[in-house]
Amino acid sequence: AEGQRLVVISNRVAVPKARGAAGAQGGLAGALNSALGERGGVWFGWSGEVDDDPADNVHLHRAEDVTTATIDLTTRELGEYYNGYANETLWPLFHYRIDLARFEQRTGEGYERVNERFATSVMPLIDADDLVWVHDYHLIPLGDRLRERGAKNRIGFFLHTPWPPTRLLTSLPYHERLVRTMLAYDLIGFQTREWLSSFVHYCETELGASVDKCTGTIRFEGREVIARAYPIGIDWDHFQAQGETGEARQAEQRLLASTRHRTGMIGVDRLDYSKGLPERIDGIGRFFDQHPDRTRDLVFIQIAPPSREDVKSYQQIRQVLEQKTGQINGARSEVDIVPIRYVNRGYSHAELYGFFRAAKIGLVTPLRDGMNLVAKEYVAAQDPENPGVLILSEFAGSALQLGCEDDDGTARGAVLVNPHSPDAVASAIARALDMPLEERKSRYEAMIGTVRDDNVQAWTARFCDDLAAD
Ligand code: G6P
Repeated sequence: AEGQRLVVISNRVAVPKARGAAGAQGGLAGALNSALGERGGVWFGWSGEVDDDPADNVHLHRAEDVTTATIDLTTRELGEYYNGYANETLWPLFHYRIDLARFEQRTGEGYERVNERFATSVMPLIDADDLVWVHDYHLIPLGDRLRERGAKNRIGFFLHTPWPPTRLLTSLPYHERLVRTMLAYDLIGFQTREWLSSFVHYCETELGASVDKCTGTIRFEGREVIARAYPIGIDWDHFQAQGETGEARQAEQRLLASTRHRTGMIGVDRLDYSKGLPERIDGIGRFFDQHPDRTRDLVFIQIAPPSREDVKSYQQIRQVLEQKTGQINGARSEVDIVPIRYVNRGYSHAELYGFFRAAKIGLVTPLRDGMNLVAKEYVAAQDPENPGVLILSEFAGSALQLGCEDDDGTARGAVLVNPHSPDAVASAIARALDMPLEERKSRYEAMIGTVRDDNVQAWTARFCDDLAAD
């Protein structure tokens, strides 16, 4: 297994930076880079560029043992495949939001065509005994398209988002075709057992597949596919190294200096409706309504880089969020006090480390999230002698690892909340603000082991070992 090359295929590709300058990449990007670095191989995907006159060129970029290979999309492909089917149909549906999902045959066909194009372009780069690992909802049919082109390799698929309950998924036209193509993979990975069991339920009830729940083996029309949960983790070593930098310390000092006697509470999310941002602001508003005397105790920093801005539901959620934030700031500010700082940009990992360490409360309240690595990064950045409190949505995949109970039923780890309830969010904030050091420490200690050990390298190794095993 160790010797096999890896071919990673995902919509986004992080072009490797010059040595030592890898700081600004996300956790997954960095991890796939390091997995690829160990085994050597190819990373294939969209260049992020639009070209309406593509010569069907694959842009190759060789760096040491890893080759990145990317293609441009046409305006039409971008509209139908990325903005359309991936982000207006599958993303909302997979996050339980059929109210926001659009079901258009035109975009579905565009999605199929781009998957065909990916398969045609990547096929010449795959050697006979490479492991092939496809990522996320943009590329569900890709494995089947590779098989049609004769690929006999072990091909795995990992879904970074939730998998919806069967009764939601059946609202997707051609849902059966989508799931049948998935069964062309040898191994299918989900973030949690919850999403896995929804998938297994679909296969049993809609396809009539037989499933061995101990091994995760799905038998269907003569094929055998393994489906398991592989909870993703952070790149612990990289993140800790970032925390040691002057950039991280400066960021920490900068936030502390600007909040002074107030407790900093932080949220960091792509500006996406799945992240529960307006609901979060409602909860904070409820806290201030209930504790008007505490406006001077708490400052909330929401970092929210805009995302998928061509999609209407993203434009709408941004308006709602800005209106709610403006309303609370208008009502609660003084000339020298603003309770919510709302920032539309991203920061480097080093700066985030510093901000997380300076903020004594981390607020992570998605309405639905495959995993959520911000929760794990917040914990990883804490001072073990004086850790902050993580408030975490019970609907994030990471709640299964970070929210736990002792045998006697005492809650440990994160403070879990129902993000739909402003009262629940408000009382979790009050609790976090008043939490004694001893409890903060014991909650932190319940989380830090899994954050450190179940890291992204362990995740990659588990998935690739299972994929390589026949
Ligand atoms: C989620 C998805 C990823 C995606 C990322 C950023 O984490 O699971 O596949 O890359 O969001 O979204 P974007 O549309 O900018 O790639």
